[in-house]
Parts: sequence; structure tokens; C-alpha cells
Amino acid sequence: MDTVIPHDFGAQGGDLRAFGPGDYYDYSTCVNRYGPPSEVAEVLRRCDATKIRCHPYDSADRLTAQYANHLCVVKEELVAGRGTTEFIWSLSRCTPHTSVSVLMPAYTDFLRAFPGRGSLPDADETRIDALGRLLRGNSFVVISNPCNPTGECFTRDELEAVCCMNPKSTLVIDESYMDFVEDHAKFSMIGNPLSNVVVLRSPSKFFGIAGARCGVAWTRSAQVLSVFRSQQDTWPVSFLDVEITRAAMAADQWAASIRRQLIADGQWLESLLQASFSNVVCSVPVHFRFVYTRASGIIAERLRDFRVLVRCLGASHGVVHGGLRITAPLVQERQHFANALRAAISKDLKDIEL
Ligand SMILES: Cc1ncc(COP(=O)(O)O)c(C=O)c1O
Repeated sequence: MDTVIPHDFGAQGGDLRAFGPGDYYDYSTCVNRYGPPSEVAEVLRRCDATKIRCHPYDSADRLTAQYANHLCVVKEELVAGRGTTEFIWSLSRCTPHTSVSVLMPAYTDFLRAFPGRGSLPDADETRIDALGRLLRGNSFVVISNPCNPTGECFTRDELEAVCCMNPKSTLVIDESYMDFVEDHAKFSMIGNPLSNVVVLRSPSKFFGIAGARCGVAWTRSAQVLSVFRSQQDTWPVSFLDVEITRAAMAADQWAASIRRQLIADGQWLESLLQASFSNVVCSVPVHFRFVYTRASGIIAERLRDFRVLVRCLGASHGVVHGGLRITAPLVQERQHFANALRAAISKDLKDIEL
């Protein structure tokens, strides 16, 4: 297994600063574009400004209480923070990087937090076997499940088995996309009995509130909990961010119907991509799809003529010959996207590139 040295990650999905003013169809972001639920605007409208006068002494507690309820765990096993990002960088500061590995393809920020620690499965190795091998050789292994960028998802049974076999190593699982998944119990590692598991959760993506910086780490390991807590300052989360998060997470009916819609959108996108590309990652439980293609750069550039943005990934993310991560268009945007894609690939691209 080769360790890949990262070089150029490009702008992260949803970072439109390089594009100048204008309206874009932004399928480079994994944030749910149907969000946030209307309850969020309502809580902002009703917010009593005097509440901002005080420091947010109880905001972290309110966030962990909300998540304890959402995840059916006890709040003593949770730490509140500013998104899953806080915990990834906290681990980066507290752990010798030579004892950490990141399974690739991987999310940009993991590879920034642990430079040079990304590892690809061998050619004849399954992802779960690669994960087992990384756990055997490192103190910490970081993954996202479902995986950003590919959408692939290990089952809970697979992860429990591999963690049981490697009790001296800790698996850090970023479950940022788990709220998109219908069969939660089959995939999430929240609540499992093992003490060498850390799960990160955040409302940013599913509830469409990435601008509010909230998230939690859950683990049964007293040592890891104390490492995360020791890194925090006096007021780890803001009052307003927690109010927004609580309002969004209480929108149960919205969540159920939007989840169904996102799954249907993902399936529509999958069929469209399969008609043109030979290597689409299929049957994943999320609202984005990944396609391995040597023509990723040129396709992304041509789509920009239609104000369509997609995320282009390459060797630095563990996508050796390139690929595109595309978030499913909203229902009313499907036709525009289909036309743009047809125009982008119809010209002079050869089958081998697609
Ligand atoms: C896998 C993964 N983890 C974490 C993040 C950032 O999450 P948060 O907003 O919770 O810090 C992203 C954002 O794209 C992501 O894809």
C-alpha cells in the first residue's frame, strides 16, 4: 500500500470564492440544498437579542442534550464542538501523525489535517480489508461513513468486526452524511459497545445549516473524551448556532420527507450518469454520486459554461486518474443539468475517458 503525498486539493465543495458574482447551480457542495427547514428562519425571526448579551454558559449542554436525544445515547459520552471539523483538527494537534492513517479516497480536510497520511487500498484489496490493515498498523484510522467523496458505506457489522479484531487501535468515523441514510441502524456505529470507536456527527449537511458551526463527538473512551475536552475553550459553541441547530433538528416531518426526496434525486442522477459513464459508484445511500473519469477536469470546465459546478478530485484525494463528485440537482433543476452534461460530454471525449 502506497502512502500518497497530497499536493493540490483545489477549492473545497461549496467554496465559490473563485467564481465571482453570479448564480450557480452548485453541485460541488454536499450540503442539502433543500435546507434549512423553515423552522430555522422562524427561530432567527423570534430570537430575543438580549440573549446574545451573555456568554453562552449552557449552550454546549443544550447541544449535547439535543444530540443525546437524537442519537439515543447518554450525554456524558458526547462532547459538543464547532462541527465535526473541530474534532478532526483536535485529533491532529494531539496525536503524532505517524500513528494516524486516512483511508482514501478521502475528504479534503482529513488529508489537510494529517498531511501525507492518506492510504489507498491495494489493487486486489476490498475497502474493508484495507481498513483492517490500516488499523493493524496505526493507533488511529480516520474514515467518513458514508464516504465523502464516493458515497460508499460500510455496515455496522463490518465495522464492529474490524474494530473487535484491532482493540489497540481506534477507528474515528465521521458520520456527517448518516442523517441522509434511511436504514440508520444498519450503518451507524453510534451506541456500539466498543471503546475503540469515535463517531463524529454534525447537522451541517443534512439540515442545510453548515454556516452554524455545531457538531458532536461520541465515544465510550474516557481517554478520548478527555483529550477532546482538554482542547476546548470556555465557551465551545455559540448561543445562536445551538438555537439554529435545535430548531433544525426538531423538524421531524421535514426531515423524513426531504430524506425520501434526496434519495430519489440521487437515484435519478445515478441513472443519468450511468447512461454516459462506465465507472459510476452506484447504489449508495446518499444524495451525491461519484464517477471515476479521466476527463474530470474538462467536463467540470465545460459544465461551468452552464453555471454548473461539480467537485473535481484527483490523485491527492486518492482518485488516481481523476473523478467527479456531483450532488443531485433539485427536482426543478434536473433538465438544466441533463442538458449541460450532454453538451459537456458530447463533443470530442473518447469512451476510454468516460
Ligand atoms: C466528511 C465530512 N466531514 C466534515 C465536513 C465538515 O463538517 P462540519 O460542518 O460538521 O464541520 C464535511 C463537509 O463537507 C465532510 O464532507
